[in-house]
Amino acid sequence: MVRRAYISASSHWVPEKVLTNFDLEKLVDTTDEWIRTRTGIEERRILGAGKATSDMAAEAVKALCKQRGIDPKEIDVIVVATVTPDMFFPSTANLVQEKVGAKNAWSFDVAAACSGFLFGLNIGAQFVQAGTHNKVVVVGADKMTSITNYRDRNTCVLFGDAAGAVLLEPSEDDDIGLLDFMLHSDGSGAEYLMLKGGGSLNPASLETIANDWHFIYQDGKSVFKFAVTKMAEVAVNILERNNYSGKDIKMLIPHQANLRIIDGTVKRLGIDYDKVMININKYGNTTAATIPLALSEAYQQGKLDKGDLVLFATFGGGFTWGSGLVRWGLDNPVKK
Ligand code: ACO
Repeated sequence: MVRRAYISASSHWVPEKVLTNFDLEKLVDTTDEWIRTRTGIEERRILGAGKATSDMAAEAVKALCKQRGIDPKEIDVIVVATVTPDMFFPSTANLVQEKVGAKNAWSFDVAAACSGFLFGLNIGAQFVQAGTHNKVVVVGADKMTSITNYRDRNTCVLFGDAAGAVLLEPSEDDDIGLLDFMLHSDGSGAEYLMLKGGGSLNPASLETIANDWHFIYQDGKSVFKFAVTKMAEVAVNILERNNYSGKDIKMLIPHQANLRIIDGTVKRLGIDYDKVMININKYGNTTAATIPLALSEAYQQGKLDKGDLVLFATFGGGFTWGSGLVRWGLDNPVKK
């Protein structure tokens, strides 16, 4: 018998401050109309100075523990997926461990850009499946505004700040839980989406600052082409591998980078839009946070029932991409 991991709680946290497309019209040469039609984004959340990724992640983890009714000391492992760690080291996961009082957990970060949460979820699931750990927290959190250049209209309209988290525990029902993952990397895509400065190749200097290398660089068109193909392909492939098709899934929870990329996946799966969780209009691209944030909203809005088949699909910098298939294990909090 497989010792399967299941999601026993699902939470998120977003900052209160909203940056609308109309606010951005005042900063760069853009329009609300361009942003909405090219990306699907209407507004995004901004954390502001003095607070960091670990603060958002810690709030999401506190909410997770409250929802499940556990003390943070019961957590065994904390995995934080992020490309905007508070610092290079210590890990953001360690800062979260301290902030929530998870004294008995060990903790580390995962970096796979927008695919970070799914990569982290697969890692977290292994700890539970191996029988070595019983309560594993996986967080996706990014303060994208800390690496966004508000002079570059190509990128500044896209990103926002958020955190989402799940708790993984052993499933008592063999059919419920994390069923399968398909994860991929292609390092030849590295050049299209990156943070050039501040690492060991280009340590922070007056030159890296002058070149804006501390901000996201993206060749949007190249990333778009790859993303729209790969995210759809991997979503179809994981369903096929498990003898399912689009009609079997209750909900697709895609990475929210661009509504047109999500469109591509929806069409390939042949599903209706009422089966797709979309909140890119409210939050923009929050990188590692998009999937746990969308999952948490879907769960809390009563869109998921115990036994539903949920499909995750993502694409991100690296390139990285993948999908995950979950048989949902929580009762609907709205119907209760
Ligand atoms: N407002 C107005 N015009 C703009 C803006 C803006 N905010 N941004 C770009 N434009 C202009 C461009 O300058 C260009 O003008 P030109 O033709 O005169 O040169 C024109 O609009 C078209 O630009 P494109 O880049 O072709 O626009 P496109 O339709 O491709 O949309 C976008 C750009 C939204 C970035 C899209 O390419 C995209 O979504 N790419 C993928 C993003 C993604 O999935 N990233 C991966 C995850 S992120 C992560 O991992 C961290």
